[in-house]
Amino acid sequence: MAGFAAMHPFAPAAQAEGYLAMIAELERDLATITGFAGCTLQPNSGAAGEYAGLMIIRAYHQSRSQGYRNIILIPASAHGTNPASAAMAGMKIVTVACDANGNIDVDDLKAKAEQYEAELAGLMVTYPSTHGVFESRIREIVDTVHEFGGQVYMDGANMNAQVGLTNPGFIGADVCHLNLHKTFAMPHGGGGPGVGPVCVAEHLVKFLPSHSVQSTGGEEGITAVSSSPWGSALLLPITYGYIKMLGAEGLRKVTEMAIVNANYMSCKLKDSFRTYYSGESGRVGHEMILDLTNFRKEYGVEVGDVAHRLMDYGFHAPTLSFPVHDTLMVEPTESESKEEMDRFCDALVEILKEAQSVPALVVNAPYTAAEVVGEWAHEFSREQAVYPLEWVRTQKFFPHVTKIDNGYGDRNLVAVNEE
Ligand SMILES: Cc1ncc(COP(=O)(O)O)c(C=O)c1O
Repeated sequence: MAGFAAMHPFAPAAQAEGYLAMIAELERDLATITGFAGCTLQPNSGAAGEYAGLMIIRAYHQSRSQGYRNIILIPASAHGTNPASAAMAGMKIVTVACDANGNIDVDDLKAKAEQYEAELAGLMVTYPSTHGVFESRIREIVDTVHEFGGQVYMDGANMNAQVGLTNPGFIGADVCHLNLHKTFAMPHGGGGPGVGPVCVAEHLVKFLPSHSVQSTGGEEGITAVSSSPWGSALLLPITYGYIKMLGAEGLRKVTEMAIVNANYMSCKLKDSFRTYYSGESGRVGHEMILDLTNFRKEYGVEVGDVAHRLMDYGFHAPTLSFPVHDTLMVEPTESESKEEMDRFCDALVEILKEAQSVPALVVNAPYTAAEVVGEWAHEFSREQAVYPLEWVRTQKFFPHVTKIDNGYGDRNLVAVNEE
């Protein structure tokens, strides 16, 4: 729609009334969903949202003549962007330990909050955690930080396990970011722009980011965190449409399905793959970490080999070795059908059997069409390599490139030699 696609970010406001109305309504909706009073759509990614949120916290402390508060507590389970954003915001990071179940070690949190009371800026916490678990002591965690004068930044990257069921405002946080490219239907991956809105409680609204060309943000707004006033505004109609079409009930159902789907897969796989962390009820949140830590020692197979082998079954591998080494983190979301989840589970179970019986089959994956029609030097058949399960035949995907040395490629420029 040209009205959305052809707008210049610095077009005079009078020429963008429709856009601005949509932006204002989306900001309101996102504030409602997160249980907060205000929202900015300026940050272009989750990480940019973290940075903006922390700068808002900094401005808040400064406004109370407590600009010296610059210690941020970050649990060991946090996503790497959390400490990176905190460092960019000029804060000093103190790591909080996790217990054996993957939860924040509340005793350690209390001890550190007390130790750094005079300089405590706040806590960054992800809920459910990157370990895929709803921490039952989240309220106590939030209260502890407030008690010692800190603000609570909730990393909302896992909001698809909260929308319509709970929210950061209700839990007691002060700021959160959302990843519209995760929770709110924007295409994810491929390096395209994201949107990482920041929502804040009433006392922080006045610090929402401003802009030097367009009028936006709070009256004491921090400086802009993006070159354009509403960030990647072109993408916003996707989230706007998603929220309007689903409505309150639909959004809640999406969250429920995301959680139910993850628990379905975790249960279905339990005899073959242990789920690394689960909550007190034995359940996971919206994702699960599957334990493959024994693969290298027992079968001589790397977890990266399993990820590559999944391509032969037609799957893009899930997150690898994060946040725990030698694991796969699976997040089915609400949108996969039961049949697709079953196929994925079957593929993983079959790969486990392959690792146990013909490890070379997994180690040499994936298999390209060129390799299959060429000379075949492997101990297993071409059939086993490319059609490991019956249903793969009907929807075969051939990767174009076989395994490359990722580590080498990360460290060295590998140029194509045309000769
Ligand atoms: C828990 C968590 N926080 C923050 C981020 C950063 O988001 P982005 O990739 O949009 O910068 C991610 C991204 O995967 C995440 O999982």
